[in-house]
Amino acid sequence: MGTLAKITPVFRCALVPKSCLPSLSAVRHNTTATKKEEKTVFGPLKDEDRIFTNLYGRHDFKLKGALQRGDWYKTKEILLKGHEWILKEIVTSGLRGRGGAGFPTGMKWGFMNKPDDGRPKYLVVNADEGEPGTCKDREIMRHDPHKLVEGCLVAGRSMMARAAYIYIRGEFYNEACVLQQAVKEAYDAGLIGKNACGSGYDFDVYVFRGAGAYICGEETALIESLEGKQGKPRLKPPFPADIGVFGCPTTVSNVETVAVAPTICRRGGDWFASFGRERNRGTKLFNISGQVNNPCTVEEEMSISLRELIDRHAGGVIGGWDNLLGVIPGGSSTPVIPKSVCEEVMMDFDDLVRAQTSLGTAAVIVMNKDADVIRCISRLMDFYHHESCGQCTPCREGVGWMAKILHRFVKGNARPDEIDMLYEISKQIEGHTICALGDGAAWPAQGLVRHFRPQLEERMAQYHAGQEEKQAAMLYPHA
Ligand SMILES: Cc1cc2nc3c(=O)[nH]c(=O)nc-3n(C[C@H](O)[C@H](O)[C@H](O)COP(=O)(O)O)c2cc1C
Ligand code: SF4
Repeated sequence: MGTLAKITPVFRCALVPKSCLPSLSAVRHNTTATKKEEKTVFGPLKDEDRIFTNLYGRHDFKLKGALQRGDWYKTKEILLKGHEWILKEIVTSGLRGRGGAGFPTGMKWGFMNKPDDGRPKYLVVNADEGEPGTCKDREIMRHDPHKLVEGCLVAGRSMMARAAYIYIRGEFYNEACVLQQAVKEAYDAGLIGKNACGSGYDFDVYVFRGAGAYICGEETALIESLEGKQGKPRLKPPFPADIGVFGCPTTVSNVETVAVAPTICRRGGDWFASFGRERNRGTKLFNISGQVNNPCTVEEEMSISLRELIDRHAGGVIGGWDNLLGVIPGGSSTPVIPKSVCEEVMMDFDDLVRAQTSLGTAAVIVMNKDADVIRCISRLMDFYHHESCGQCTPCREGVGWMAKILHRFVKGNARPDEIDMLYEISKQIEGHTICALGDGAAWPAQGLVRHFRPQLEERMAQYHAGQEEKQAAMLYPHA
């Protein structure tokens, strides 16, 4: 648990007179002399290292409970240390965006620190969470909302923003109510608003409800929607840091990314960086769903092995590990990997890329041998087809074509050479569209072809051998 006792030492260091601290050169010398050994074992995360201490809603989500859990502790001091100090801690922490792409957060927030041109700057928090399988931000907002509100203030300060807009998907009605309550409590207690926390910094937080379109999670579509227009992605450049919401410099960051910022500042960037492998630092929320005994959301150390994550927290695969067929490791747009790859892979950005997939939103969807993987991917393709905003031809038309082909693959009513055709179409979509929805639709098809070609061929062979008719004859002999 992130108790005050654990948090205090960071501030104690800040209060020690400078003369008592080792000189910078001594510290540097020391660092080179004793090169830190890289960890090789990751997880399980200790309770005292958890950032999200009310993930399961067992405690009070309101301000009183949040204060007891250590939220809003010394926030004023953090703000007074200034934006460069906050940015430095975030850079040191190695935090990478938790919204899917994994862009280094310190660098991204740093893009906002340009000379003032008179326009206000905004932080936009992406709480759209539409990726199938993903339900981590929702847990933060309904059970630990003050973590996000405080995160808005700290992240906003790092980029000298005037206000934060939290864009929450429309279906999250209860979460929006809880969040709004937390925002009001924070205003009433003087934690945000004019002279936030008594720091002299003015900062507002607004909760904005979307209407539930997946595409509105894409950052520029989100900005359009926030401005009251149709949620259709913008061409980049200009990037939001130059021209974002209402024509002003804007950073869009995911809920989890923003919510961990205060704890990183309290416990230190080095503390956060002590988890996970190099370039893959920190603790992370994982969602585990599908054919496991205990579907759950859990905070774990980055780089934990996929197998341990499933066995330790989700009660294992239904029917045992040997009954595993494959896993979609990072939300529906990441390519499926078969059991052979799942055996060893680590849950971090780099190892999943090595395995030709992605960490994405860290939403692990498990399929055992009872699952029809072809049907699963076909269903996902229907989703992407439905959610395409229609601006780019490869996405608008190509995803529809992939969906049609996959419908036939489910039945087996196709020719084996169409497997390569599906792959080819996906390659024509990938990288040829305005936003990454096209890529997100292409990758599941690629994963299916890469790892489950024999199953596709077998389904076709069965169909053509008249298996279905034979089955019907057996089931309805008098028809
Ligand atoms: C179609 C689509 C949907 C997306 N949905 C979300 C979402 O629901 N939540 C989110 O944080 N990021 C989503 N993203 C990623 C955002 O565009 C953006 O990269 C992210 O919010 C940046 O936050 P981060 O730097 O904290 O990761 C989506 C991207 C695409 C292409
Ligand atoms: S890739 Fe698809 S969703 Fe994205 S802008 Fe193009 S048509 Fe719209």
